[in-house]
Amino acid sequence: MPELPPFGLLRLPAEIRFGVGAAGTAAAVVERFGRRVLLCTDRILSATPAFRSLHAELEGRGHAVLVLDDVQAELPLGSVLAAAELARGFGPDVVVGYGGGSALDLAKLVALLVSHPRPVADFYGENRVPGPVLPVVAIPTTAGTGSEVTPVAVLSDPDRALKVGVSDPALIPRAAVVDPQLTVGAPPAVTAHSGIDAFVHAVESFTASGRFTEWPETLGVFVGRNRLSSGLALDAVRLVSGSLRTAVTDGSDLAARTDMALGSLYAGMAFGTAGTHLSHAIQYPVGTLTRTPHGLGTGLLLPFVLEACAPAIGAELVGIGTAMGLPDPSVPATLAAVRALVADIGIPGSLAELGMQRTDLPRVVELSLGVTRLVGNAPLPGSAELVTEIVTAAFEGRPARALA
Ligand SMILES: NC(=O)c1ccc[n+]([C@@H]2O[C@H](COP(=O)([O-])OP(=O)(O)OC[C@H]3O[C@@H](n4cnc5c(N)ncnc54)[C@H](O)[C@@H]3O)[C@@H](O)[C@H]2O)c1
Ligand SMILES: [Fe+2]
Repeated sequence: MPELPPFGLLRLPAEIRFGVGAAGTAAAVVERFGRRVLLCTDRILSATPAFRSLHAELEGRGHAVLVLDDVQAELPLGSVLAAAELARGFGPDVVVGYGGGSALDLAKLVALLVSHPRPVADFYGENRVPGPVLPVVAIPTTAGTGSEVTPVAVLSDPDRALKVGVSDPALIPRAAVVDPQLTVGAPPAVTAHSGIDAFVHAVESFTASGRFTEWPETLGVFVGRNRLSSGLALDAVRLVSGSLRTAVTDGSDLAARTDMALGSLYAGMAFGTAGTHLSHAIQYPVGTLTRTPHGLGTGLLLPFVLEACAPAIGAELVGIGTAMGLPDPSVPATLAAVRALVADIGIPGSLAELGMQRTDLPRVVELSLGVTRLVGNAPLPGSAELVTEIVTAAFEGRPARALA
């Protein structure tokens, strides 16, 4: 096992409920935060019996409930501002995010903008939120982004070339209710993309640079891999690698869905302080250029990132292979197993297959290098050479050269 940094940091919701049936207790959790409840979800989920039953129970308990069910994919800025405006008119005590990462991130952004009515751009980046925000209760229906426990919300701003993130501990939901049963209806592509994203969160938080070697004066939002995040990340690797294939091929398998929900929760708990790195930095421009889902891009890129970074993370890769249950968890065996997992759930093997052109590569490299908070978290210095090697190998679909 690799040597772990001597210090640790976790920041989490005050309460996390996990397990089949937990969603049935969500109204009691929400109730603790006040009487006026804003429910953020989308139209697919607002029509499900589980959502209707939560809505009915809240009303039955005498709460004033407003349902905002037009969450849009990739969270365009205009839709976030419209939601915040509606929310201000309603005056919620608590905002509930019910859905995939998009719905959870919208709930966080609405809570932020109701509490601090300023342009969203004021909050882009790290640690820019001036104080507490309305309490958020997060109820994920995918496994997943881990957004139910993280300090991050991501949106699309037409003035920016890439999706933008607000990262601040103030955005961590006050409570998370994680019920694997809610993910059973997620279609195979959503299961594959959000599930492999959870795997990438786990692997990247375990391989992030161990910058946290002494207590700094002020702590960043992401501090790199650390003592408290590492065990959670490995448990997430074990759960997701063991059950993602089954969850994709048989969505009704509740045992696989349970492993995935727990794995994605652990991965979110880990990357909430450790942070992610190059697969995420490079997915930003790839997602914008090819209009492909977040998890499809991070999953496609992960094998190339690990191959290029292998000289710096040999012990970590062996640890990951061990967590994946490999009989011979060597570096090459782990790299092959990660590649197989990504391929088996239907993720394309190259950026060319997403419609990218070779002439797009320099721009992708330049924009990726601009995501400094993630590039700076990489296990090797995030140089132009390293990112160019990864992006070129990923474009061609051939193993990346290991760069020392
Ligand atoms: N805040 C964070 O920490 C964080 C981390 C990773 C990703 N993200 C963001 O999360 C978003 C992706 O989230 P996602 O992968 O969960 O997908 P999503 O929220 O965009 O949902 C994708 C689709 O799946 C449907 N869906 C979700 N759950 C379902 C269910 N149980 N049954 C049927 N349909 C269901 C939704 O209606 C939607 O149409 C991206 O915008 C990404 O940037 C945020
Ligand atoms: Fe992600």
